[in-house]
Amino acid sequence: MARKQRAGRLARLSRRGVVSFFGSAVDPDGFLDDVISGLSQPQKALPPKYLYDAEGSRLFERICRLREYYPTRTELALTRRHLREIVRFAGERCELIEYGSGASVKTRMLIEHLRPSRYVPVEISEAALRDAATRLGREFPWLDIAAVVGDFSRPLKLPSRGARKTRRVAYFPGSTIGNLSPSEAEGFLRMTRAQVGASGAMLVGVDLKKDPNVLHAAYNDAKGVTAAFNLNLLARINRELGGDFDLRRFRHYAFYNASLGRVEMHLVSLVRQNVRVGHSRFQFDAGETIHTENSCKYSVDEFRALAAEAGFKGARVWRDRRGLFSLHGLTANE
Ligand code: AVI
Repeated sequence: MARKQRAGRLARLSRRGVVSFFGSAVDPDGFLDDVISGLSQPQKALPPKYLYDAEGSRLFERICRLREYYPTRTELALTRRHLREIVRFAGERCELIEYGSGASVKTRMLIEHLRPSRYVPVEISEAALRDAATRLGREFPWLDIAAVVGDFSRPLKLPSRGARKTRRVAYFPGSTIGNLSPSEAEGFLRMTRAQVGASGAMLVGVDLKKDPNVLHAAYNDAKGVTAAFNLNLLARINRELGGDFDLRRFRHYAFYNASLGRVEMHLVSLVRQNVRVGHSRFQFDAGETIHTENSCKYSVDEFRALAAEAGFKGARVWRDRRGLFSLHGLTANE
């Protein structure tokens, strides 16, 4: 369906603000292709974006509330504490672009205080996007929302700003940037830099390097929610691609890889076994793993250096007192 027609059909007028939807669903065969190619590599691997189907997103929300998982609560407290400075940095009435689902408390706090001229949430899951955009549209009836269904790990086109040339500010909270490799993160920052332009800025949440024991606990919680989140990827392959993974024969495994500065999440095969996905069969040795996610941790200087490579200057950084988490305010570096 033509993009314009689709957007027209989905646009909803609220009292004053407008909620419109842009973009198209992600390639329907992409999941199967990615699984086949990922499981065919010597180190089996699956892209972390597939962790987030409806069940995975629900489990991730539970992770965010866990005692051991400090990032969500620390970033929220940090944002609340420095809200005035953050708003001053971004500038009221800017156009706020958020990558990832935008219905969190942090987003609402920013919208309330920034009063953006337009809010552009970008999200891979159409259902999550619709839900978030509709809820925010109801909560902030004055707000223009241009919701974009899209995969931000690939080049992405945003709806044009038309005649209004308000400052664009990209918002990427939660340290989701850590789930990209440093070179992917640099590519993503480069794309964002081009999107916000020379007068634009970016706010990005970045998890800091810290005591590996704290990291270990955060990714190996006592209730096993992170394990369920990881294993759900195999359940999703079974559900959506007709796979025959036996979940009892795999176990969650997460550890901090100090030399690469990242937490790695894997699924370990407990026995030697064969698994079928579609028409393909894959052999696993006992102890062999599927690498399902990296969560890179950066020092403030490391992240600034990465941002500088992508054309951003580290203008501000806010940190919590314990040095767990950072929020970087970046501006274009001309
Ligand atoms: C979404 N992302 C920033 C989370 C993280 O901490 O890397 C995903 C996650 N994986 C396991 N627990 C949380």
